Amino acid sequence: MISKAGLGSRTQARSWIHARRVSVNGRVVENPDEWIDFEKDRILFDGKPLEVREKIYILLHKPVGYITTFKDPEGRPTVYDLIREVNTFVSPVGRLDLETSGLLILTNDTQFAERMTNPDHKVAKTYLVECADPLSDAALDALRAGVELSDGPTRPALVRRVEGLVEIVISEGRNRQVRRMIEAVGSQVVALVRPQIGTVGIEGLESGRWRHLTERELEKIR
Ligand code: URA
Repeated sequence: MISKAGLGSRTQARSWIHARRVSVNGRVVENPDEWIDFEKDRILFDGKPLEVREKIYILLHKPVGYITTFKDPEGRPTVYDLIREVNTFVSPVGRLDLETSGLLILTNDTQFAERMTNPDHKVAKTYLVECADPLSDAALDALRAGVELSDGPTRPALVRRVEGLVEIVISEGRNRQVRRMIEAVGSQVVALVRPQIGTVGIEGLESGRWRHLTERELEKIR
């Protein structure tokens, strides 16, 4: 509930609970897994009622070399280094690999995030791929139809050539999916960019910069 209220990451919330900074109905809780009823229970953090923060939706143009988690044990830069001005805790909607650049949405709206990442809702994610070896027409057809990966076959994808690159539109978001799809047809990804999620595109947003999603974009994506 603390992380859903936008105060911090789940890991931070757990540490605050262990540090006895949280009480429920007047009793300090020490177990982060204790079940809470947000409607009925009175939760205090540092003695103050937990307020649900306003929902925010951030669009970040993630550069290569940034990881999508809050903290990296290896100390590499994270996407949070790029959104320091945002003073509400937001979580990435899906992930982009360290070496992938492009559009990343971050939000404190967990319901929205769930809907966006649930493959049943078929939100289209568009990727542009530079491959190590040129892909044949047969390879493109195989990607369109679905290829066999270690965690099962991929769903049909939209695939076309765009100025020497391959554009792939998928509605799933499995771990390193595009890289694994390209490997499944005998090549390797040299560079991977995600220019678009659903109806929202990255154009006009410089690498490393962020902005709020507009009301209109939010409406369209919903
Ligand atoms: N597919 C990948 O392989 N990597 C990403 O970052 C996103 C999709």
